[in-house]
Formats: sequence, structure tokens, C-alpha cells
Amino acid sequence: MSVRKRIGLIGAGNIGGELARLCAEEELGDVVLFDVPSRENLAKGKALDLEQDCALRGRDVSIQGTSNWRDLEGADVVVITAGVPRKPGQSRDDLVATNLPIIRNVAANAKAVCPGAFAIVISNPLDAMVYEYRRVTGAPRNLVAGMAGILDGSRLALFVAREAGVSVKDVRAMVLGGHGDDMVPVLSMTTVHGAPVAAVLSPEKLAAIVVRTRKGGGEILALMGTSAYFAPASSAIAMARAYLRDEKRLLPCAAYLDGQYGYRDIFMGVPVVIGGGGIERVVEIPLTFEEKSMLDKSGESVKSIVEVCRRTL
Ligand SMILES: NC(=O)c1ccc[n+]([C@@H]2O[C@H](COP(=O)([O-])OP(=O)(O)OC[C@H]3O[C@@H](n4cnc5c(N)ncnc54)[C@H](O)[C@@H]3O)[C@@H](O)[C@H]2O)c1
Repeated sequence: MSVRKRIGLIGAGNIGGELARLCAEEELGDVVLFDVPSRENLAKGKALDLEQDCALRGRDVSIQGTSNWRDLEGADVVVITAGVPRKPGQSRDDLVATNLPIIRNVAANAKAVCPGAFAIVISNPLDAMVYEYRRVTGAPRNLVAGMAGILDGSRLALFVAREAGVSVKDVRAMVLGGHGDDMVPVLSMTTVHGAPVAAVLSPEKLAAIVVRTRKGGGEILALMGTSAYFAPASSAIAMARAYLRDEKRLLPCAAYLDGQYGYRDIFMGVPVVIGGGGIERVVEIPLTFEEKSMLDKSGESVKSIVEVCRRTL
């Protein structure tokens, strides 16, 4: 007999609400939408609205809003968006002072109530928050991942498709490294239905696409006054689905590195295989000299923000 899966969403804000909607739409599992006590009614309201939406759309899941950690007991997956998003003009790293105590609080509670859950961290600065989550929970490395590369890759894929005048369905795009301004769009692995992107677009156009991809979050932030949330939610759902359905998907995610790509004891965006075992392996792909140099620069940025967290123990 199969048991219904439970998905805990920590943070019931913009991304949290969209995550709940996607979990329901795909019937991935029952949802617990958690927020702090002052926002419990928001979580309860979103949950009720979404359950009514499920009644209309014929989706058989339960969605519960709460501010009680006990309701997360035994969750199979937790997706963490707790914290504040950027405001226009802020970098992701500017959020560390506010979001560091929040991720530590979330991790301590998650450790107590759902230690076996596959955790997907979204809160920024991503690479530092996912590192802290694992440090505090002490969870096995295969059960903790950060979401960034899928989102950044979707931005790269979109810009390539628009510029090349081809369907976005035919573009495969890879973005690795830290989730900051020096992320690494890996053009050597970006293709239009297998054709190298360099055969389709000029170096000038590709250079402009790289810049736009790196600033992709900031572009939306400047327009809306807050962070993107539709594509970030879809990206995390791809990871949750891969775990819950043992899909063995190869996805770029922030994963704990223990020597891969020359890094130890940091989380950074690399290709991983996600299946029923969580992050089942890190895949090492060949990078050009220029891409490896960019990855090293990005790795240094990740190390320095993690160092900020270590200093505030
Ligand atoms: N990794 C990525 O690619 C990516 C993309 C977009 C946004 N983000 C980040 O995701 C985070 C959430 O973004 P958002 O737009 O949903 O923000 P939001 O402000 O709409 O929602 C955040 C929610 O977290 C809640 N929260 C605060 N402290 C909490 C705690 N201790 N426990 C539980 N909940 C708590 C807040 O009350 C709020 O409802 C931000 O840090 C943002 O920068 C990351």
C-alpha cells in the first residue's frame, strides 16, 4: 500500500504560495504551508484558497496552513523559502545578516521534526543558506540541496531561444557555480537540439546573453520591486518531483562538494542526479579553460560568503 507523501513548505510568501499551487496541481503530496505566527493567517488563507482551487480542478490533496512545527512531523520533503527577498539595488549577499538567523532557526526545527526529509533550500544568499542548513541539521549530504542552477539555466535557455528564433523546447542550457553575479553559464554544454549554441549565435550575441542571464534575477527585481517567484517555484518542484518519483534527473543544483571540481566543504551549483536517494551523485563534466576560470572565481565568492556565516557562529 503506498502512503501519501507530505511536503513541508517553510515560508508562505510569494514562492511558498506558488510552490503549494504546483504541488497541488501535480498531486505531488499533501502540503503543509508553514510561516511565523504573525503570518499564520496568511498561510491558512492561502491553504484554504488553494484547497478550494483543488476542488474546482479535481486535485485530491490536503493543504494546511500553520505556524506549528509539529505539523511538519515526518515530512518527506521540505522546501525552504523562509527569509526576506532582495529589494531593488540589493545584492543577494546583502541578505545574509537577516536570513542567517532565520535559516538557523528553520534548520534546528526541521532537524527536530523531520530529520529524514529531502531538503531543498531556496532562501538567499543561496549557497551560504544551504551550507548553514546542512551544518545545523547535520543531515546526510545527499538529503540537502540548493535550488539555483535550474532557474538560471531556464533564463539562459529562454534568452538563447528568443535570440536564435527557435522554440525554447529545443534549448538545453547549463548554469553552474554560485548563485551570484559571477555564476557560470556553460555555453560549451548549451545546445539547440544537440547543435552547439556557438553554431547558432554569434560570439557578441552570446556574450550579451551571458550578461543578461547573470543579471536575470535583478532584471525582474527592478521591474516588480521583489524577487521572481513563478520560475523559482517551478525549479524547486522539478527537484522535489525527481526525489519523490525517483526520476534520476540530471539537474544543476547546489550540492555539497567533497573534492569534486576541486572543492571541499562548500555547496555550489554543479550537475547532480536526483532520484529516490536524494542527490545520488555529483556529475563532473568537462569545462573549457575559460569556464573553469569562471567557476574558480565564482567558487571564491561562495567561500567568502560562507566565511561570513562561519564568523557569526
Ligand atoms: N534560489 C533562488 O534562485 C531564488 C530565487 C528567488 C528568490 N529567492 C529567495 O527566496 C526567498 C523567499 O522569497 P519570496 O519571494 O518567497 O519572499 P517572501 O517575502 O514573499 O516570503 C518569505 C516568507 O518567509 C517567511 N519567514 C520569515 N522568517 C521565517 C521563519 N523563521 N520561519 C518560517 N518562515 C519565515 C516570511 O514571513 C515570508 O512569508 C528570499 O530569500 C529570496 O531572495 C531565491
